[in-house]
Amino acid sequence: MPDKLDILYPSGFYSYQAPIHLDYVAALGGLPPPVPRGSPFTYLDLGCGDGFTIILLASVYPESRFLGVDLNPGHVAAGTALAAAGGVANVRLIEGSFEAWRRLDLPRCHYIGMHGVYAWISEAAREAVIDIVRERLEPGGLLYAGYNAYPGWAAVAPLRQFFLDYTRDMPGDPIESIRATLRHLKELRQKGAAFFQQNPTAAGVLEEMAGKDIRYVAHEIYSPHWSPLPFSAVAAQMARAGLAFAGSADLQHNYARPSVRAEFAAALLKETDRLRAELHRDYANNTFFRRDVFVKGAAPRPSAKAVADRLADFAFGSRVPFPEMSRALPLPGGEAMALDSPLFSALQRALASGAATIAALRQRPELAAFPSEAIAQAIQMLAIGNQIVPFAGPAAPVTEAPRDWTIPLRLNRHLLAESVEDAALLLPMAPALGIPAPLLRDEALVLLAVAEAGREGAAGWAWDYAQRRGAWLRRKKERAAHDAAFSEILTSLTPRLAKLAEIGVIAPR
Ligand SMILES: C[S@@+](CC[C@H](N)C(=O)[O-])C[C@H]1O[C@@H](n2cnc3c(N)ncnc32)[C@H](O)[C@@H]1O
Repeated sequence: MPDKLDILYPSGFYSYQAPIHLDYVAALGGLPPPVPRGSPFTYLDLGCGDGFTIILLASVYPESRFLGVDLNPGHVAAGTALAAAGGVANVRLIEGSFEAWRRLDLPRCHYIGMHGVYAWISEAAREAVIDIVRERLEPGGLLYAGYNAYPGWAAVAPLRQFFLDYTRDMPGDPIESIRATLRHLKELRQKGAAFFQQNPTAAGVLEEMAGKDIRYVAHEIYSPHWSPLPFSAVAAQMARAGLAFAGSADLQHNYARPSVRAEFAAALLKETDRLRAELHRDYANNTFFRRDVFVKGAAPRPSAKAVADRLADFAFGSRVPFPEMSRALPLPGGEAMALDSPLFSALQRALASGAATIAALRQRPELAAFPSEAIAQAIQMLAIGNQIVPFAGPAAPVTEAPRDWTIPLRLNRHLLAESVEDAALLLPMAPALGIPAPLLRDEALVLLAVAEAGREGAAGWAWDYAQRRGAWLRRKKERAAHDAAFSEILTSLTPRLAKLAEIGVIAPR
């Protein structure tokens, strides 16, 4: 029987590890970016899977170098083919193990990413990672680690044990055996098995697993080195490589009330020891997954002024048009922070009309009365909601929705035409954001059709394309009459076209 880990890990983009996001987290920790903004850098992704994240990132930083290391030849082959098809020349995926890293000729790096890797590898591989980080990450360089954490995963260990024991020596298709186990576990839960009654967290995780891509479940469960980690262990290991905790890529975790229920916030605010604060937060929240950012060097706790000074180097902009912006930030425990004061409203309006630095915002009459620190703090709250974001590159001026357009990035044309597997969302990169701007599958086809055939020929082009692939436009999940569906989708896209042009997904023809 083929091994369950022969199943390729599904493609995914993880914006938490994007350079702009890591620079922003560093700034929240009062730290400078690893290289001055706009300068070329080297980015290493350890356990890059099929490299989907770094290939997309590389496409918008053509002057920088991206490297991925992964053990699995199938992953490396798939990613190498995608990079070639999308014309992304500044990314290289290397087949190899962390343990043998000295043979891989890795350069010195400014960023190291590691998503879904560190808590799934052997002790020897973890030691090798620590060596790589110690020897290859530049001073001031940033490391991102996304990993399964304690205490959340503690209740899941017996669930994993059930999978291992139930499928041991089971003949046939490994995917089918995982499905059978999921069915059996669900039945146990439905009948009120004491395990699930006494471990409600495990019941929740089972529910979540049942809704996920089965290949993800295969890798999650059958990794021979499954070992969720407490933050304290990761922080101690990184300290051995000369790194200090800089902050969380989950932005709300960098603040007290936005990360915990009201009754825990005061103690968190009082805690001066950074590592103890994380312990407090993880137990208040029963954290399952951590997204840590570490810096090579020291990371003393910054003052609000030091953070505002760092944020002065960023331009902020909006991912959505003004009417779509949320006027409240949900808080743990079901409450919400209102974002409707004159300062928040003025900032949302200003940033919807174009990206700007804090200094430029203060030139606007409606914002001139607010000190930089107050603006910096308000922007941080808006950024938690992920609608206002730091911009990675220059944006086009905000204009009317273009009537006709091109898709400038070759990788985007490829991604929209040859979409990865059967994902519901397609992920063309937005160069100004440094991350993708997700589009529904049908929207992607309409966007591509106008770019390929012009507004007049687009519906016909989309019809030919869909027919060739047996991929009809759908409305309410049903196959729809093509021309009517095409114009309906185009109409629903129209309010977003100006934004897609501003962030560089499309350019007016
Ligand atoms: C769960 S996947 C995560 C992939 C990718 N980072 C993502 O999040 O989409 C873990 C990856 O680490 C790779 N890996 C595991 N152990 C490794 C080792 N010792 N050396 C190099 N790669 C390893 C696996 O092949 C797999 O692609």
